[in-house]
Amino acid sequence: MDTPTNPDARGAAERHVPVLLERCLELLAPALEVEGAVMVDSTLGMGGHTEGVLRRFPHVRVVGLDRDPQAIALASERLAPFGDRFTGVHAVYDEIRDVLADLSIPAVQGVLMDLGVSSLQLDEVERGFSYAQDAPLDMRMDATTGPTAADVLNTYEERDLARVLRTYGEERFAPRIARAIVRARATAPLARTGELVDLVRAAIPAAARATGGHPAKRTFQALRIEVNHELDALARALPESVEALAVGGRIVVEAYQSLEDRMVKQAFALGASVSAPPDLPVVPDTHQPYLRLVTRGAEEADEAELARNPRSQSVRLRAAERLRTTPDHLRPAPRRAA
Ligand SMILES: C[S@@+](CC[C@H](N)C(=O)[O-])C[C@H]1O[C@@H](n2cnc3c(N)ncnc32)[C@H](O)[C@@H]1O
Repeated sequence: MDTPTNPDARGAAERHVPVLLERCLELLAPALEVEGAVMVDSTLGMGGHTEGVLRRFPHVRVVGLDRDPQAIALASERLAPFGDRFTGVHAVYDEIRDVLADLSIPAVQGVLMDLGVSSLQLDEVERGFSYAQDAPLDMRMDATTGPTAADVLNTYEERDLARVLRTYGEERFAPRIARAIVRARATAPLARTGELVDLVRAAIPAAARATGGHPAKRTFQALRIEVNHELDALARALPESVEALAVGGRIVVEAYQSLEDRMVKQAFALGASVSAPPDLPVVPDTHQPYLRLVTRGAEEADEAELARNPRSQSVRLRAAERLRTTPDHLRPAPRRAA
């Protein structure tokens, strides 16, 4: 097989070790081993997981989604040697069923979601995802559209800033940081990540600064989630992805922070539970579970994985298998007219 010629694509492959790749392949295998199997990698990134799937299952076709056009371009270059077994599509992952309809794929055997930002996005200093280097306050995963982190910081009311920091960053000093932001922007709009880092550092009490990692970590996480509407997209994407699965198909999700993992846990638990009232003597078929949990709780990285890949530190992996069609009362509404 040829190696990609674009140095960026080669670099992408070398920079990024896919998290829990072997475990993902093992969990997807029973679904992907069927003839004509198709998998959606909803968070293509640099295509590491997808490459693993394409190599391990030589008959499988992968449709890779990413909201970041740069990720689609680099991963497509990297995966070009697989020819028409790979199709990259620029889309937000809650559009999974629209994308499949456009490709005339009625159902898929696997869905993989590896949530959050990619190393590529973190490494590209100018995109403003990292608190470690000074850059414009952008943080958009799709840099072609929508408000930036600077827009959020310079226009939100103080109480909304505090809510974002508390809810998405689990930042206990959210009100202090929000007040400091509002005070600073009264002089000049915030424009650079470095300014934000300095401001957060100054707003947090000295004793708290000494513990809990980088003081701006939670603020940056919260802003990234807000700028990209990450939780809304995930809340829609989970049921949409289940609907995209054929019966017997499997979904594997890797989450890196507790809010996202909780949403995955709840979506899977809903599908794996009887939805009839508890006093019914016989559960009708329409209220039987439509998912089976394939992992027991959330799986974490073991020592060997952690040594190989520091990014796996906070991963929580969950998987489920589709048992039957979703009952009408739990099925998400169609996203667009047929
Ligand atoms: C952790 S990286 C995936 C890395 C990938 N598994 C690999 O092995 O290279 C997450 C990717 O998901 C993308 N992403 C995040 N939220 C998304 C969304 N709502 N819709 C589509 N892509 C999204 C990001 O742009 C990023 O490229």
